Amino acid sequence: MKKWIQKKAADFHRSTEEMQAFYDRIHQMYWFVERHIRPGLVDVLSTLDGKLDMSGAPTVLEYCCGSGLLSMQLATRFFHVTGRDLSEKMLQRATRLAQNHTNITFETGNVLNITDPPDSFDFAFISFGLHLFGPDDRKQILKQLLRVVSREVVIIEHPPQWQWLIAVMEWLEGSHYTDFINTEWHAVAKELDAELKWEIIAKTQVLRWRAQ
Ligand SMILES: C[S@@+](CC[C@H](N)C(=O)[O-])C[C@H]1O[C@@H](n2cnc3c(N)ncnc32)[C@H](O)[C@@H]1O
Repeated sequence: MKKWIQKKAADFHRSTEEMQAFYDRIHQMYWFVERHIRPGLVDVLSTLDGKLDMSGAPTVLEYCCGSGLLSMQLATRFFHVTGRDLSEKMLQRATRLAQNHTNITFETGNVLNITDPPDSFDFAFISFGLHLFGPDDRKQILKQLLRVVSREVVIIEHPPQWQWLIAVMEWLEGSHYTDFINTEWHAVAKELDAELKWEIIAKTQVLRWRAQ
């Protein structure tokens, strides 16, 4: 059954253009999603406060930043945040919502094509974005993010348990959520030669990756 689900999910892959068009189309309704995920993100960041190495003036690369919910949380803690997303419309919303944060730069960028030089940032974050991609892309994304940061890659995701609202959103997005929650993360970490810490914070999965 698990193999069948994973095969189905792997076969079903939205193109970059479709994904961009989807988010461009729904950006005005994204307030509904924001309302649902904001409290969890706030709790996750507060819990991470004592756990991340914040020495110096740490910088963050955030991919799939969407409307900037996480970017704004990061901006109050990090020296500078670079938020990238495929969707111009989501970035416009992010720029408007985060106008009081002068240490965030929003720019278009495809997480499937990360070309920054090694160690360009201290941290990388993705919230509720990695499950959009199939297993091979997820691995490639993690590999590239581990290459461009000197400290940690932090992945924030929905809980492993099924929830109706998440299921509806995932169905609309055409995401790989079902096989994402079945991923053997520790095997992926071994393959990428990375250290992985996995925990549930505020009913949210938090995966912290560090190159060995
Ligand atoms: C579910 S939203 C999450 C947004 C935000 N991180 C949050 O927590 O609210 C997923 C975001 O990923 C973006 N996205 C999808 N595919 C992408 C890609 N290949 N490169 C960059 N961003 C992408 C979408 O445009 C969308 O804004």
